[in-house]
Amino acid sequence: MKTYRVAVLSGDGIGPELVRATIPILRLASHLYGFELIFEEALVGGTAIEATGKALPLETLEICKRSQAIFFGAVGGKQWDSLPPEKQPERAALLPLRKTFSLFANLRPVSCYPELLDASPLKPQIASGVDLIIVRELTGGIYFGQPKGKIYTEQGEKAIDTLVYETSEIERVSAVAFEIALRRRKKLTLVDKANVLESSVLWRKTVKEIAKNYPDVQLNFMYVDNAALQLVLKPAQFDVILCENLFGDILSDEAAGIAGSLGLLASASIGSTKFGLYEPAGGSAPDIAGKNIANPIAQILSGALMFEYSFQEEEAAQAIRTAVGDVLKEGYRTADIAQDPSYICTTEQFADKVAQKLEENFKSK
Ligand code: NAD
Ligand code: IPM
Ligand code: MN
Repeated sequence: MKTYRVAVLSGDGIGPELVRATIPILRLASHLYGFELIFEEALVGGTAIEATGKALPLETLEICKRSQAIFFGAVGGKQWDSLPPEKQPERAALLPLRKTFSLFANLRPVSCYPELLDASPLKPQIASGVDLIIVRELTGGIYFGQPKGKIYTEQGEKAIDTLVYETSEIERVSAVAFEIALRRRKKLTLVDKANVLESSVLWRKTVKEIAKNYPDVQLNFMYVDNAALQLVLKPAQFDVILCENLFGDILSDEAAGIAGSLGLLASASIGSTKFGLYEPAGGSAPDIAGKNIANPIAQILSGALMFEYSFQEEEAAQAIRTAVGDVLKEGYRTADIAQDPSYICTTEQFADKVAQKLEENFKSK
């Protein structure tokens, strides 16, 4: 039987409760669709700092290296905000993981399930038909550029971040975005700030070159400030949005708002092999952590992305998506997107319903 090893890094805040609720769904899907998953848990983030003094212990890295994918929860929280920035969970664990495994493309699909239109803060006629994917460059730009840090001068403290891109970094993520566009509605929007930033000028030039290999894809350009506006005015105009690291970070949270909650936004971080890291786009949500109320959909759908991109188990991935949609169709929702109090589920209850649906749908195939 095909067997896949998965490193499970639950992390902090809502991470562990979401991962705990999701693993049985992934296990069930693997049994139904004829493959085996070997999960290996490892410490990461603030939880790892408490246990070992390090946000990304060597043992965790070893477990990731012997796996075919990382299934990630979230990291960070107020408890660790007073540590030196470079020791905090986000910068000492998540960013190094992305960099170590060269996961340069982060895919964040946003769609409005028709049954969830009432959860969108936008008017239904604006939110309906939204089906876009953000392809965010993930291992370059201002997150990683050197020099970075603080300097003490006669005028006082100075802080530096550097926004730098090599042509090759733009080329490889652009190719991923064009390939995705080919399998979708064949429209790609490069979001940048080419009226101000030199790096954006290079992005435009490079993406235009790559576009020559994809004559069937319609390419257009949009400044990031306008893109932020268009996402709320007319989000259905977008198919694939390609952008650099920081713009992608910001626009993806905004795009999650179109669907109604950050708890709906899954993500896949991939590179040039089948290895990938799969995690909700949202964070550790300290405001709701430990209450069993967080929305598990982003975590569950990140599992579906793992099946699709790292294991090529498309049927199982699709079955999970269908099961989530079917549970929503029946009206069940976690508190973040609920309208009718009689249908509110806890994290666990919602995940259990998805598992039941998955099994029911399989039996009635
Ligand atoms: P956040 O994404 O944790 O939360 C933003 C808002 O979205 C909150 O109101 C939260 O309750 C809500 N939300 C997020 N996920 C949800 C879910 N599954 N269900 C329902 N509601 C959900 O962002 P923040 O509050 O700015 O950051 C909190 C911590 O998380 C920080 O330490 C931050 O650095 C970290 N963070 C980590 C990751 C990651 O691990 N990938 C991503 C983003 C933020
Ligand atoms: C995300 C997060 C991370 C990022 C943080 C926690 C480092 O916001 O995955 O979107 O900015 O990439
Ligand atoms: Mn973010």
